[in-house]
Amino acid sequence: MRIVLGNDHGGVLLKCEIKKYLEQKEGLEIADLGCQIDEACDYPDMGQAVGEAVAAGQYDRGILFCGTGIGISISANKVPGIRAAVCGDCFSAKASREHNDANVLALGERVIGVELAKMIVDIWLASEFLGGRHGRRVEKIKKIEEKYYK
Ligand code: RB5
Repeated sequence: MRIVLGNDHGGVLLKCEIKKYLEQKEGLEIADLGCQIDEACDYPDMGQAVGEAVAAGQYDRGILFCGTGIGISISANKVPGIRAAVCGDCFSAKASREHNDANVLALGERVIGVELAKMIVDIWLASEFLGGRHGRRVEKIKKIEEKYYK
């Protein structure tokens, strides 16, 4: 699986921890478009960059980090085709894949600890979209995009 990471300065420490963690796993290719330690950058730029890379099919999934996960997920969600979910617990992480087919996960460095973040990432990467009635609802999300993104 090809995974792209992105972050602003508010999420850089958590990004570094998760990057190290994922790089030790088999079968994952990890790219990093985020800013590095001691740099400051704006979360909309990073959310957009990761959103565009995932929407273009360059990566299978994206993982974003900022202080709360909120600003960067809002930004990524402006890119058509992106379904970014801020998750602070394992239940939401699983549901965001199974029900919403989330292709981007957003985490808040100032909200959750590193060990919980690792569990969330593991569950999110392992969970699959269930389709069926959930597929119909995701199709409706796409229709909203078609209406407003001309
Ligand atoms: C940066 O200070 C902070 O605002 C940002 O990381 C994020 O939390 C925004 O949603």
